[in-house]
Amino acid sequence: VKGGYETFMDKEIHEQPVAVADTLRGRVDERGEIQLDEMRIDPAVLRSVDKIIVIACGTAAYAGHVAKYAIEHWCRVPVEVELAHEFRYRDPVVSEKTLTVAISQSGETMDTIQAVRHAREQGSKVLAIVNTYGSTLAREADAVLYTHAGPEVAVASTKAFLAQITACYLLGLYLAQLRGNKWPDEVADYLAHLAQMPAKIQDLLDGQEERVRALGAELADKTSFLFLGRHVGYPVALEGALKLKELAYVHAEGFAAGELKHGPIALVEEGLPVFVIVPTPRRPLLHDKVVSNIQEVRARGARTIVIAEEGDLTVEPFADDVIRVPRTPTLMWPLLTVVPLQVFAAALARAKGLDIDQPRNLAKSVTVE
Ligand code: M6R
Repeated sequence: VKGGYETFMDKEIHEQPVAVADTLRGRVDERGEIQLDEMRIDPAVLRSVDKIIVIACGTAAYAGHVAKYAIEHWCRVPVEVELAHEFRYRDPVVSEKTLTVAISQSGETMDTIQAVRHAREQGSKVLAIVNTYGSTLAREADAVLYTHAGPEVAVASTKAFLAQITACYLLGLYLAQLRGNKWPDEVADYLAHLAQMPAKIQDLLDGQEERVRALGAELADKTSFLFLGRHVGYPVALEGALKLKELAYVHAEGFAAGELKHGPIALVEEGLPVFVIVPTPRRPLLHDKVVSNIQEVRARGARTIVIAEEGDLTVEPFADDVIRVPRTPTLMWPLLTVVPLQVFAAALARAKGLDIDQPRNLAKSVTVE
């Protein structure tokens, strides 16, 4: 059942190249245009949308957070990302011109279902990005964009996250194409980068998995971890911290790197492991700020574990460990940088002898509010 892997989580981490490829498959035609046959929302409505609200919980919400950066950039439509359980209790501003996008692996998360019902009552069209065929969310939404990640058995989400980002990116590029926000060659360019991601994820696993697993075992006695990221690296930091909490039961917090000096830096002390997700040096404004953050925490004694692009040597003097990731445009970065964080969390949990597939107190789908 586990395909030769020790745990379902290991199997599902290794299925990520296929999950991304399958989510892309059949959705781009021979002219390079995105065709979402399942998009049963009138194109005129999609053209008139003036706001997108993404509703989700947990890892799915972090996928939505990543998507916000891409969709706003491509479509020039404001995107709000809302935790489903907060949404309907705060009188949200929703109208016929709002497109609600619900993201869920299971399609059965009650918080998300209730939020979607509320959005529909206010006249919003709802698009569900779900992994489970025929699930409640898939049935209740106006349209469904399936992530074709295959069944995810481990309680901690891995391949669903990558497939959700991929589906959100297809949606963003589709809307850009429909609304004429981007030149066709720019959409084609991003689609080409997306198409390269399965091979890059595989290269990353082949090249770094063993080292990251060893690092997880080495740091198994640590009781607290920080994760820092900026731009799309920020939701990746949040997801890295969530994986570690869920699997290894240790305190882990993700921060927007720029927030460090507004408070969290007070937590840094000798030996505290800090993961830092560094943007590509081809975005120097972003990159250099994050590199200074590494220096700041290192100067206060942190053990820095840096996730950086292949060939980015600027991080070397400040990094205790560097995890190298293939070169890719910034918006594609989450599809790679989260992978070592998943591997790390599983390795640390394994070293502690914990049940990786069934962490304590958690259920695969949360079907009560
Ligand atoms: O099935 P869903 O995607 O709606 O589930 C949402 C969250 O409950 C889920 O992502 C949860 O946070 C996972 N345990 C994360 O690993």
